Amino acid sequence: MSPPLLEVDDLARSYRGGDGHVVHAVDGVSFRIGAGETLGLVGESGSGKSTIGRLVLRLEQADRGRIRFDGQEIGALRGEALRQLRPRLQMVFQDPFASLNPRRRVGDSVAAGLRAHGLAPDAAALREQVAALFRRVGLDPGHLDRHPHEFSGGQRQRIGIARALALKPRLIVADEPITALDVSIQAQIINLFLELQQDSGLSYLFIAHDLGMVRHLSHRVAVMLRGRIVETGPTAAVFEDARHPYTRALLSAMPLPDPDLEAARQRLTYTAAPFAPDAALREVTPGHWVLG
Ligand SMILES: Nc1ncnc2c1ncn2[C@@H]1O[C@H](COP(=O)(O)OP(=O)(O)OP(=O)(O)O)[C@@H](O)[C@H]1O
Ligand SMILES: [Mg+2]
Repeated sequence: MSPPLLEVDDLARSYRGGDGHVVHAVDGVSFRIGAGETLGLVGESGSGKSTIGRLVLRLEQADRGRIRFDGQEIGALRGEALRQLRPRLQMVFQDPFASLNPRRRVGDSVAAGLRAHGLAPDAAALREQVAALFRRVGLDPGHLDRHPHEFSGGQRQRIGIARALALKPRLIVADEPITALDVSIQAQIINLFLELQQDSGLSYLFIAHDLGMVRHLSHRVAVMLRGRIVETGPTAAVFEDARHPYTRALLSAMPLPDPDLEAARQRLTYTAAPFAPDAALREVTPGHWVLG
């Protein structure tokens, strides 16, 4: 069996708040993502999901733990070695408008990474590569001289995805990539993520609140609560056989498409309790782990 693309072990990061209080944003998290695999990361606001994304992308330094990517320890890379890693690990943000320069033509925003990493021999080749990326994400390459405000939210997210794809990454960390979009557009963007994965074997760490989308897209899911993973496993196991009371509460709040089921649904509440000092993930069925 080939080794996983990403292996994260005992990752931790804390922050000191304004009042001097220490927040353990990520507190001993371990997970794997295989080549061509999607891990969905869900959990309450403030549970540490985005912090994990930033640590994996090496936008921030972990306090503790190991990150192995494509067989290489990347947790301590700096300088040129870190720069060399960048193309292979990319991010798609929640709000592409915030991350696109409003005064720059969108084609130039997509081209910037290609130029910085010397991936196009000349201006004509660069333009052709950007046009190809536009077509690949379902945008009209005739629009690459336009500015961000001339696009809809869904189109801007496609531009953000084109920019992430430009450097041929192996892994994309997508942090709430559809949350800011109209509901009618969300499924289109999810389908684009799926198509890109089928075409090029990309892996995703997909962070989202929308459990329906996570279920649709993810091969495996990890559920976070206060900096810890409380449950993880194959998507079907977690959604159909949730064991941790927090996961059950989260799933019980998921809207159901059938109005009769929706009306009859019982919401479970989860009363937060401190983790036991010896709490550890235990395997309940193959690949399905629950904190207990
Ligand atoms: N730069 C920072 N300085 C101080 N505290 C931070 C910082 N970044 C994150 N935190 C704190 O760490 C915890 C985890 O934050 P994080 O953004 O990772 O959560 P999240 O799961 O992504 O939440 P959301 O679903 O709202 O996006 C929170 O308590 C947050 O306030
Ligand atoms: Mg977040």
